[in-house]
Amino acid sequence: MLENRIRREDLKGKVVSAEEAAMLIKDGMTVATSGFTPSGYPKAVPLALAKRAEAGDKVGITLLTGASVGDELDGALSRAGVIKRRFPYQTHNDTRNGINAGSIAYQDMHLSHLPQYMSYGFFGKIDVAIVEALAITEDGGIIPTTSVGISPTALKLADKVIIEINTSQPMQLEGMHDIYIPENPPFRKPIPIEHSGHRVGTTYMPCDPSKIAAIVVTDMPDKVRPLGPIDEDSKAISNHIIEFLEHEVKMGRLPKNLLPLQSGVGSVANAVLGGLVTGPFTDLTCYTEVIQDSMLDLIDAGKVTVASGTAITPSSEGQVKLYQNIDKYAKHILLRPQEISNNPEVARRIGVLSMNTAIEIDMYGHVNSTNIMGSRMMNGLGGSGDYTRNAYISFYTTVSVAKDGDISSIVPMVSHVDHTEHDVMVVVTEQGLADLRGTSPTERARLIIDKCAHPDYRPMLNDYFERAMSGKLKHEPHLIGEALSWHQRFLDTGSMKVK
Ligand code: COA
Repeated sequence: MLENRIRREDLKGKVVSAEEAAMLIKDGMTVATSGFTPSGYPKAVPLALAKRAEAGDKVGITLLTGASVGDELDGALSRAGVIKRRFPYQTHNDTRNGINAGSIAYQDMHLSHLPQYMSYGFFGKIDVAIVEALAITEDGGIIPTTSVGISPTALKLADKVIIEINTSQPMQLEGMHDIYIPENPPFRKPIPIEHSGHRVGTTYMPCDPSKIAAIVVTDMPDKVRPLGPIDEDSKAISNHIIEFLEHEVKMGRLPKNLLPLQSGVGSVANAVLGGLVTGPFTDLTCYTEVIQDSMLDLIDAGKVTVASGTAITPSSEGQVKLYQNIDKYAKHILLRPQEISNNPEVARRIGVLSMNTAIEIDMYGHVNSTNIMGSRMMNGLGGSGDYTRNAYISFYTTVSVAKDGDISSIVPMVSHVDHTEHDVMVVVTEQGLADLRGTSPTERARLIIDKCAHPDYRPMLNDYFERAMSGKLKHEPHLIGEALSWHQRFLDTGSMKVK
């Protein structure tokens, strides 16, 4: 079986145990790994490294990944105190707790930026790359598994490479990848992608075989996450978006089969795409980051012809379906490096319709996707900014209230800003949709309050807005001392409502 997985004779002698491979990682190193929302990440070597640290070996590292990774990497290494610095995105409770407690230094970054920052040398030397692979080709090319992420860049830059061959990943994934690595300026060329399904690279990631220091064989599957059921609020959000898209087609601003769709992570995002399964559009294409369950449903329904992303991240049920029908999905799915899947230049040129989720949105259209109550880091902004800033139309969705109605997701001023009024075009809650294109800030405030705020909070928001408007400055007025009092009230009393 390994014959087909390690196709280069001289590398067969590099197979070692996870424990031996983990010994290559030393205190103070910068380690870059495969993995993206949590698929295709290395598992055996990080677990062995965590064990080493738990046994008393001093080892602290800077960890770079594509995006979030599973418990065997972020979880185990956070618990063992190995992760000292972390970039660019995470979703694990133990990592998040370390970040919020100040024991892990974290920079929340645009995902398209990370590989190029690595290439520019902004992260210093990359000591070790740990990359999960389906197989190693005769030429030493590394075939990725369920995600590509930063792996091509990590393989190119790292001094030493550890490959985890994962035999639980089906060989039919071979051929699904399209690896194109841009040069650094001033030598960078235009990325020749003209449509979502356009192949412009190789099916493997180039790697100098002399850098491969260890190969570990494992069969541990990706620890994918469950997805919440599609609830009534998500369905309402999805319906508002579909109605809006139909209107845009009618107005001649979108073709009948729309433009390439980008959809964010999480349950609401999955539900929004899910709505398209029974929706009126056909021949859809996707130029996105993560391929979730609803994308598989859209392919099954014959609605999506091609889905380009950097990772396939199904739920546990979705994973079974994916593997059982892998031949079919392989014809429709293309996985690219995140520098390309999230590339602002490509996104703007092909005109993506970006749909991402907010924690809260303010009445002027600024979006907070990351920091609860301004200070508690949740996940990170991921690729949302890569697409939002460059989309043909950018959407932000959120349920209008959180915590059983004690929090309004529409507020006078967001407690942290990820996306600004300059980039956010359409705001959608279960209450309705506010089209902000071509509006002034005060027009936006009226639209967002009327269409998107929950009725319980609309009078409070109108009251704030009218009082702000009664001052001398009328472009984007705020009562600055009062602007964040809603958040403080929640922190003090457990509810944003005035009792
Ligand atoms: N104020 C305070 N807390 C809020 C809130 C608000 N306005 N809105 C939601 N929350 C809380 C929820 O109560 C929940 O808390 P809990 O973990 O204690 O239960 C938490 O935030 C997550 O909310 P949920 O509704 O479960 O979120 P989700 O699964 O739909 O994810 C984001 C929402 C914003 C966290 C998620 O989409 C994300 O991380 N986005 C940024 C990255 C991104 O967009 N990536 C895709 C780019 S391609």
